[in-house]
Amino acid sequence: MTARFITFEGIDGAGKSTHIAAVAERLRRAGAAVVGTREPGGTALAERLRELVLHEPMDTLTECLLVFAARRDHLRQVIEPALERGDTVLCDRFTDATFAYQGRGGGADVQQLLQLEAWVQGGRDGVRQPDLTIWFDLPPALAAQRRAQARAADRFEQQDVEYFERVRAGYAARADAAPQRFVRIDAALDRDAVRRQIDAALGARGW
Ligand code: TYD
Repeated sequence: MTARFITFEGIDGAGKSTHIAAVAERLRRAGAAVVGTREPGGTALAERLRELVLHEPMDTLTECLLVFAARRDHLRQVIEPALERGDTVLCDRFTDATFAYQGRGGGADVQQLLQLEAWVQGGRDGVRQPDLTIWFDLPPALAAQRRAQARAADRFEQQDVEYFERVRAGYAARADAAPQRFVRIDAALDRDAVRRQIDAALGARGW
């Protein structure tokens, strides 16, 4: 079986969670062994780091170091072994979120982030990157409306629309830099329309 690494990105309130479950279902039906995971998190240690990053006040560089430490553990313990087995890994957020949130949102130095990315994701075959990134894009004001109906906000979700405009621009910049990896989904549309866009992106790859 062909190993696949698929990530899901977007600002908070984009509605990606329900769709990740549908993608897992679709790929399992097609015979894939699917591993579902998330960042920050995905291992016992990385989940502890997630708690700190989401709830403890800290400066942006500290955030970067913690999310990349969590990522290192996650890659070594979960993602790389799964890809080695030929599994399909579905990851709710990955490094693009660090460039978007800590980079554009928090003002972290992009050169430093690129170094951390190369350091943490570097291996025998170069720097590990997702095979496909599904980016749920929508205007921050609409995302804020959707968030208002959901659960209690973490440190990032408490930020204002202007912050999420920057995060959105951060995703757009990453998408521009790697157009063959990114698929932009119009997440302002209703659930069925979003689902159809995702199915089309997977279908186009024969998945
Ligand atoms: P999210 O993935 O939206 O989970 P939930 O649905 O449980 O809220 O929340 C994770 C938060 O972490 C989100 O606000 C983005 C943030 N984040 C970063 O700031 N940097 C990162 O590198 C990652 C992976 C996430």
